Amino acid sequence: MSQYSANPAGEKFPLPKPEEYAQEYQRIEALVQAARKDGKEIVVVMGVGFVGAVMAAIVADTIDKATGKPSKFVIGCQRPSPRSYWKIPMLSRGESPVKAEDPEVDPMIARCVKDKKTLVATYNADSLRLADCVVVDVQCDYSKQELGNMRTGEADMNALEATMKTIGEKIQPNCLVLIETTVAPGTTEFVAWPIMKKAFATRGIDSVPLLSHSFERVMPGREYVSSIRDFWRVCSGCTPEARERVVKFLKEVLNTEKFPLTVMDRPIESETTKIVENSYRATTLAFLNEWSLFAERNGVDLIKVIKAIKMRPTHSNMIFPGPGVGGYCLPKDGGLGFWAYKHILGFEDGDAIFKITPTAIDINDTRGLHVAELTRDALRNMGRYIAGAEVLICGASYRQDVGDTRYSGSEMVVRKLTEMGAEMRIHDPYVDHWYELEQQDVYPAPGHSWSRFFRNQEGLVHATVQKDLAQAIKGAEAVILAVPHEPYLKLNPDDVVNWAGAPLAVIDCFGILSDDKIRRYFELGCEVKALGRGHIQRIKKEVKGASAG
Ligand SMILES: NC(=O)c1ccc[n+]([C@@H]2O[C@H](COP(=O)([O-])OP(=O)(O)OC[C@H]3O[C@@H](n4cnc5c(N)ncnc54)[C@H](O)[C@@H]3O)[C@@H](O)[C@H]2O)c1
Repeated sequence: MSQYSANPAGEKFPLPKPEEYAQEYQRIEALVQAARKDGKEIVVVMGVGFVGAVMAAIVADTIDKATGKPSKFVIGCQRPSPRSYWKIPMLSRGESPVKAEDPEVDPMIARCVKDKKTLVATYNADSLRLADCVVVDVQCDYSKQELGNMRTGEADMNALEATMKTIGEKIQPNCLVLIETTVAPGTTEFVAWPIMKKAFATRGIDSVPLLSHSFERVMPGREYVSSIRDFWRVCSGCTPEARERVVKFLKEVLNTEKFPLTVMDRPIESETTKIVENSYRATTLAFLNEWSLFAERNGVDLIKVIKAIKMRPTHSNMIFPGPGVGGYCLPKDGGLGFWAYKHILGFEDGDAIFKITPTAIDINDTRGLHVAELTRDALRNMGRYIAGAEVLICGASYRQDVGDTRYSGSEMVVRKLTEMGAEMRIHDPYVDHWYELEQQDVYPAPGHSWSRFFRNQEGLVHATVQKDLAQAIKGAEAVILAVPHEPYLKLNPDDVVNWAGAPLAVIDCFGILSDDKIRRYFELGCEVKALGRGHIQRIKKEVKGASAG
């Protein structure tokens, strides 16, 4: 096994050796003793990934409202696995282990580690012995076996179950445990609690573990911190005492005065809130796929249709789905609910009950494939083939103006076009490395890359994300505007064709092009196709008619 853990920039950190654990514990214990003398509560955050690292800093930044002094001492804890250990030494240096567009993240972590000294990180899970409260932010993935069929997927409970076992083996009996991980409904009470109770029984502890649940609604992007701290939370506890304790904790660390807490009777209700919330969102987005195809085939611009509908305040949150939905949560959370119904709650009629959520996820997961068809057709209209064509995709992330590439529709587009023989180039102003491609053998986990659903994906490990758009577009035969990142909204057709060196196919996946720009591309000899925008044919005819007349 590798003796190092490398961060995304390639910096290597040696994994801790068995003989170092005792000394590491002494270091943490001494810091905790000092913090306790200072009247601080000790909080351990398990899992310092996208959510845990920022949540840890938010808790560490908390001040006592009465005294104005820091009131929590936070220990970020992560297993020393070759894949993830690097997050610990980075956090210990006061550097964020996650790349965030939010300018608040880096200074907040640096402030808490270096100035306030309220945040430390460790690999030693024995630090759980010192905790008054443990926050669980490890992942719980839903892995799909087939492309476009979420029903055959499975929840991956390993990380969560292992973490709950470790916590049960180490914490003090009166320590509050808060699961923030998005879990399959029933997990807190029927999976995690029994694991902890068993561990308590083995240790001869009579009391029941104080276990609670409150899911994250964090949103990657410029408001990352705010989307955790200044946002509405839902919570619950396995017992009345756990519920009271979690309410008190969340009131201390989050802005619950402005964003009141909703307290549910049982954890399965707060767990279900998260799953239904995200299934609802996935469904409203998927619903527009059929109308997007309708629009393309019948001369309708769905972008204008949506704008017209959004004038009604009751319908103002309609969003055009782009080349797929992506992000970490929407593609998986409905799956966790579907899976729990059978595997945790014991019902056998899931296929009969769940019609809409699985269909929505399947539609969203495969919408990108249609972009490949549009690209092929646009090139064909110009007398070219997709095989061997130089195609530039603008935007690798799942959402505008963020660098998060997890399950992005763009990945599906790149993979399908690569299978069809296109030579793909990538541009994204916010993404430095597209790990889903570059490290497809191991990322998101060995055997889990979408590469397994397509042929001829091997070469994508050499993919690089370009930053200079003019350079990236040089000689391209097609450009796919996949994400409405700010710089793409301003693109001028004359510049694009100049940079390319000749007319090219332009594929708009997100209603990025105005009618004037579409017209101009046609005037310049380009071909334009777009998701959900059937009126393009009309513009094309007008331009052709004008040039013939
Ligand atoms: N990222 C988002 O946008 C977002 C939004 C809302 C909710 N969530 C939910 O928050 C949870 C965490 O998501 P994330 O994005 O932070 O995931 P992540 O993969 O970035 O982080 C999880 C971390 O936990 C660590 N870990 C795994 N097993 C461990 C163990 N036994 N002990 C200690 N650490 C362990 C992993 O190495 C990793 O660093 C998920 O349930 C997710 O659905 C995420």
